[in-house]
Amino acid sequence: MWKPTLPRATDNNNGRAAKGFALFGAGFIGAVHAECIASHSGSRLVCVYDPDADAARRLAGNYGARVAGSVEDALATEGVDVALVASATFSHVEVLRAVIAAGKDFLCEKPLSAGTDGAREVVALTAAAGVFGAMGFNRRHDAQHLALRGMVSSLGSPEIVRMTSRSSPAGLPSRVEDSGGLLREKGAHFFDLSCWLLGERPREIYVAADCLVDAAFGAGGDVDTAAIVLRFGSGALCLMDFSRRSAYGYDERVEVFGAGGVAESGCPVPLATRRSLGGAAEVGGIHGHWLDRLRPSYGAQLGCFLGALDGDGAGEFATVRDGLVAELIAAAGLRSVAEGRSIEIDYTF
Ligand SMILES: NC(=O)c1ccc[n+]([C@@H]2O[C@H](COP(=O)([O-])OP(=O)(O)OC[C@H]3O[C@@H](n4cnc5c(N)ncnc54)[C@H](O)[C@@H]3O)[C@@H](O)[C@H]2O)c1
Repeated sequence: MWKPTLPRATDNNNGRAAKGFALFGAGFIGAVHAECIASHSGSRLVCVYDPDADAARRLAGNYGARVAGSVEDALATEGVDVALVASATFSHVEVLRAVIAAGKDFLCEKPLSAGTDGAREVVALTAAAGVFGAMGFNRRHDAQHLALRGMVSSLGSPEIVRMTSRSSPAGLPSRVEDSGGLLREKGAHFFDLSCWLLGERPREIYVAADCLVDAAFGAGGDVDTAAIVLRFGSGALCLMDFSRRSAYGYDERVEVFGAGGVAESGCPVPLATRRSLGGAAEVGGIHGHWLDRLRPSYGAQLGCFLGALDGDGAGEFATVRDGLVAELIAAAGLRSVAEGRSIEIDYTF
């Protein structure tokens, strides 16, 4: 089975020259990627571009990287081999047009686009240019989900899959416009994860959704709570529940149930402590912040991306086609919410 490679200080990168990265987006996740790039011996951060020049300067300064004045300037910077697109969702297509025109391989954060037209355009441009267009579906590189995937074939035909994702810290209604909405922001990850675990795509989706956390999400045209049913081509049913808030820490669990048994990727506990006082016992809780739960997966993802650039496991890495599939599922899910019925998913590429 394909294994993730974790960044290590002693990693000698098999004697290959380190790949020079242009990073687009110096926000929250851009900083996580910058740290991963700088700490892997197979990569180096050459430059950073963000229209917020102060944010770009702060991040680039931490790693001795150049601050680029524009997307094109970043791509033309000497030593740039590949692009990592971690900018706001609404900018992905625009940035990727320039990246692909420059003939650079790239890794793009999810969702690929906040719309099917943009996602289709990126897939077509990537194929025409012959560049490697990878998607940042980092859950594929999470050690627990990888282990679960390795167990699926031992369960017989999968019949029911359950996925839970409840956010901590809580999502902010002010971010709705930037995020593309709950079914893209969170949905893209779990739609991809379900396809990757089962090795097939859903053919039908039903979504019941509402604003149970904060009405302000509704004012921004979004929902904050969703119950989703996906029916796969094999007949397997997948149930997802999403919330933009969890009062007890970041809750992410995945379970696959088949004719022969069940396997689960549960919530890891950062501190396996137990205190017993009187008649009550108290155990350590789950991760308070989603990034603490998932941080290792970003380094593993980068290691695998670097390998894929050299042809090692390239067929396994999520690509922009997977990004488009997730977007097509999300689009059908949004129609389901609007029309109050289940929707056949149209996979016209
Ligand atoms: N894989 C994951 O788990 C994960 C987690 C968080 C965010 N994301 C994704 O990463 C992207 C960024 O999210 P974030 O939380 O870092 O947001 P953020 O708001 O913290 O940062 C986004 C940055 O992009 C910049 N930007 C806007 N237009 C740009 C352009 N044309 N070129 C370069 N930069 C531009 C903004 O100025 C901002 O600094 C989103 O698409 C989001 O869905 C993925």
